[in-house]
Amino acid sequence: MKTLQFRNGDKMPAFGLGTWKSKPGEVYTAVKEAIKTGYRHIDCAPIYGNEKEVGKALTECFEEGIVKREDLWITSKLWNDSHAAEDVEPALKKTLSDLQIDYLDLFLIHWPVAIKKGVSMAQKASDFFSLKEIPLSVTWRAMEDVQEKGLTTHIGVSNFNIDKLKSLTVEGRVKPEMNQIEMHPYLQQEDMVDFCKREGILLTAYSPLGSKDRPSNLKSDDEPLLLEDPVITKIAEAKGVSPAQVLIAWSLNRDISVIPKSVNPERIRQNYKAADIKLSEQEMQEIAKLDRGLRFVTGNFWVVEEGPYTLESLWG
Ligand code: A2P
Repeated sequence: MKTLQFRNGDKMPAFGLGTWKSKPGEVYTAVKEAIKTGYRHIDCAPIYGNEKEVGKALTECFEEGIVKREDLWITSKLWNDSHAAEDVEPALKKTLSDLQIDYLDLFLIHWPVAIKKGVSMAQKASDFFSLKEIPLSVTWRAMEDVQEKGLTTHIGVSNFNIDKLKSLTVEGRVKPEMNQIEMHPYLQQEDMVDFCKREGILLTAYSPLGSKDRPSNLKSDDEPLLLEDPVITKIAEAKGVSPAQVLIAWSLNRDISVIPKSVNPERIRQNYKAADIKLSEQEMQEIAKLDRGLRFVTGNFWVVEEGPYTLESLWG
């Protein structure tokens, strides 16, 4: 299983299971199936509304002797309503309690967006704090503190652009160790990849298959389906693998962690096998040409009338 190395030498399994959009009632079986298949990395977040059920699956896997805690890599995230310094540790402890574990391997600031305590998805300007009211550097300092306390081994961010990463790199005691962002052949993020390589920041690709099951209000009808892209399907056919496996192998070939979501046992096993697929230089070059800067997760749900966030302020 391919691993990626953190600055302190710790290694993370590059391939993991995504749990965004995995419904309660489905995610328990998915996590158990994944761990039995050989997955050793599970990506979670409290906003996914399923951490308790993930925790039940993890606990059973430990009790049944399938894996030990130290064999797994568990990532979770700080929701936007807990950016205030005093809210970070309680939020992390709630996640630990739901997941029924006593430390995370990686804890990420989920979005560079702060919202009022107890609001899950902000709807109006008064639901938000601006980044002047709660600067990211304040939240980051609290992330450093929970790391120092051993509640999480590593800390990082998600959905940060290069400028925001740079400012934490300059202001923080600890540089972010990870940025988890949307990444797939339609959104290759070459500048981010180069920047992170230079700074020793690892990357995780979310929505690597194009998240066709994301909430329908974010989807437009004329949007291309990544899993049906002719270049991807042609490479898949030539190699006798599935389009999803090509997309997963593409991230791993770029030394980027990848967390495809599935709740279907057959697809969970299929995705796992993608880690063995090697793409040739020519295949990588053909896929490189597919880049079109297309975000499926635009962040437009953070943009409200007279609110403090714009798409420009999010992505630059
Ligand atoms: P399901 O959970 O029923 O398997 P992303 O990781 O980009 O968010 O994509 C997740 C979506 O892709 C889900 O709809 C998931 O459905 C589907 N999916 C996961 N694995 C595969 C696969 N191997 N082939 C086709 N679709 C897949």
